[in-house]
This record gives sequence, structure tokens and C-alpha cells, in this order.
Amino acid sequence: MQVKVNSGSDHYSVGATQFDKILEQVTHRDIVITDNNLTACYPSLKNISGNLITIPAGEESKSFDQYEKVVEQIFQSSFLRNGTIFAIGGGVVGDLAGFVAATVHRGVRFVQVPTSLLAMVDSSVGGKVGIDLRHGKNLLGSFYNPAAVYIDPAVLQTLPVEHFQNGMAEVIKYGWILDTELLEILNQETLTATSRNLQEIVFRCVALKCDVVEEDFTEKSGLRAILNFGHTVGHALEAQVKYKNLLHGQAIAIGMVAEVAIANELGLSQLRTQDIEPLFQQYQLPICPTSHVNLDQLISLMLGDKKSTGNGIAMSLVLEPGQCKLVDNIDPALVRRVLANIWS
Ligand SMILES: NC(=O)c1ccc[n+]([C@@H]2O[C@H](COP(=O)([O-])OP(=O)(O)OC[C@H]3O[C@@H](n4cnc5c(N)ncnc54)[C@H](O)[C@@H]3O)[C@@H](O)[C@H]2O)c1
Ligand SMILES: [Zn+2]
Repeated sequence: MQVKVNSGSDHYSVGATQFDKILEQVTHRDIVITDNNLTACYPSLKNISGNLITIPAGEESKSFDQYEKVVEQIFQSSFLRNGTIFAIGGGVVGDLAGFVAATVHRGVRFVQVPTSLLAMVDSSVGGKVGIDLRHGKNLLGSFYNPAAVYIDPAVLQTLPVEHFQNGMAEVIKYGWILDTELLEILNQETLTATSRNLQEIVFRCVALKCDVVEEDFTEKSGLRAILNFGHTVGHALEAQVKYKNLLHGQAIAIGMVAEVAIANELGLSQLRTQDIEPLFQQYQLPICPTSHVNLDQLISLMLGDKKSTGNGIAMSLVLEPGQCKLVDNIDPALVRRVLANIWS
């Protein structure tokens, strides 16, 4: 299985390859960046030909401090411009290693090997790399395409179930914004890490994301914004709890339900929250916040969302299953009223 991506002047492919075969591609010239959960689950990582850099698992590693430590280790090794940096891990490893690859020697060859469901269907394709700063998430970064993306869905068998469900929120999102056939497949069965059609579904999502980013790599036309369905509310919820005890997939599941209610209130869609909730419940994803939300603070966080042009709140709203559009200038009072109503 393979998806070809033409992104600006870059061309690369996202292909299915066995994990061991991927590791065999690493040469003595290369660097592999991974995290300690991956080295615990896959001891063969310690036998690769290149240099292995292991970072602590978790979002805290997407930091300036960790970036500096990794870069120091790279320059202490004999890494040259013609080497490749492999990112083997979830979105944290991919984002950090990609930013390292974009900046070391002003850019070296970079290969993504996503090992979480979220990284496979979302973060490893599209070329966004970066780290968090004290001022906020993903604030320092770049658009930097990989030379290749290799996916082995079999590694999802060691991914904690909670993180599998987290990735499923993005899979479900693709169905609502672009692909009604995918929604039908998802409605028929509950996917697990051992489902026979998992690889097919992962690559279906990869192809959908690639189509969007090929059209709008640097987010200029607004098309890429449709990938942000559920994310205006979701990102604000994540920021409010300071990214603690709420996974991204959980936040956007709550966000997608809320944004369906908002689209309905605006008269843009006939969809109701009941139409969208069951798929999230199938994967133990929340449909409303489980702890207290400060609505005034949430609204001000949404007004600061990067999609907003300064007039009201901007959201990528589903108009009907498979069709999504960026809507700007939404009245904050309406959003507040809807959220207060559905979360009461
Ligand atoms: N660049 C983008 O376009 C983009 C898009 C979406 C999200 N992101 C970023 O991705 C990050 C989240 O990614 P994530 O959800 O993959 O988190 P993550 O990288 O923290 O991985 C989740 C957990 O699963 C573990 N893990 C990963 N693969 C495993 C495997 N096969 N077996 C066992 N354990 C495994 C990790 O060690 C970690 O503990 C965030 O920082 C987010 O900002 C980036
Ligand atoms: Zn997301």
C-alpha cells in the first residue's frame, strides 16, 4: 500500500513496510530519534547501525531544552550533511525530530516512521514540524516535508488502548469532513489494533490528508483548515487544562460534538449532536467535558484561535456528512449559549 504526495516542489511517498525492514534501512551515517516507550517495546532499536537518540516519552519532550539536548548529541556524533534523521515514534517524536532535521545543517534528509495511530493518520504527513514554548504549543516550527513515511500498523498492537482511541478521534473526523463511506465502515465495526482492515483504513486517512495538504500546504487558501473540525473548541479545552489529563483526541471529540451543535444553531447544518456522538462512545471518547469549564476563558481562547481573522470565532463546520467549511465571524455570545446548553 502506498500514497504518493506532491507537496510544492517535494515529492514523497507514504508506504506500508514491516518494522524490522524499516530498521534495516538505517545506515551508520544516520540518526534515529525515538522515545523510551518505543525502546522498551522494540529492543531491536538498540541494534540499528546508526546512532540512537532516546528522549523521554511525553509532550514535555517537545521542548526547547530537549531540542537543544538532541542537537548536542547529534553534533557529538559523526553526523554529516548526507545522513538521514529517522523519527520513530508518535507525534511528539515526529514533531521534535522533524524540527531538528529542518534546522541541523539548515536541513537534512528526514524519514518519518509513525508508531501511534494519531501519528500515522495525521502528524506524520503534511510537513508540519515543531516544538512547544512556554508561551504555547507548537509555536516554534517549520513546514518541512519528510523524504519518506513508512508505516507498519502492526506496531499499534503495543500502543496503549487509550492512545489507540485517541487516534480514532482523528479517523472519525476524516469521515465527517470528507468521506461518508469511511463513516459507514466505522459504523459497522469497532476497530482494534488487530483488525484486518486497519491498514486499509490508516491509508485511507493518509490519502485524505495528503489530498488536502497537496492543495494547501502552507494553509494559505483555507482548505487545510477543514482538518480542524472540532479543533477550535478542542484546542481551547486543551489550553484551559494546560494539556494535562486530556488527550488531544478526547478534546477534539468533545469539540466535534460541540461544533455540530453550533453549526445547527447557526442554521448551517441539519446534523444534531445525537448523530455524531455514538461513534465517539464506541471508542470510549468523551462527548462533553468531565471537569468544570470556565466558559468565559474558553471563549477568549477561541477568539485567539489561529483560524480567526479577528472578527468573532472561526470554526471548521460540517455542513452535512462528508462536507466541511471554514466559517469565520461567529458570534461569541451564540457559541457561549450553545456550549452552556449542551454541557449543562
Ligand atoms: N505535525 C502535525 O501535523 C501534528 C498533527 C497532530 C498532532 N501533532 C502532535 O502530535 C503529538 C501527539 O502525538 P501522539 O498522540 O502520537 O503522542 P505521543 O508521541 O506522546 O505518543 C503517545 C504515547 O504512545 C507511546 N507510543 C507511541 N507509539 C507506540 C507504540 N507503537 N507502542 C507503544 N507505545 C507507543 C508514546 O511513547 C507515548 O507515550 C502532539 O504533540 C501534537 O501536537 C502534530
Ligand atoms: Zn488534531
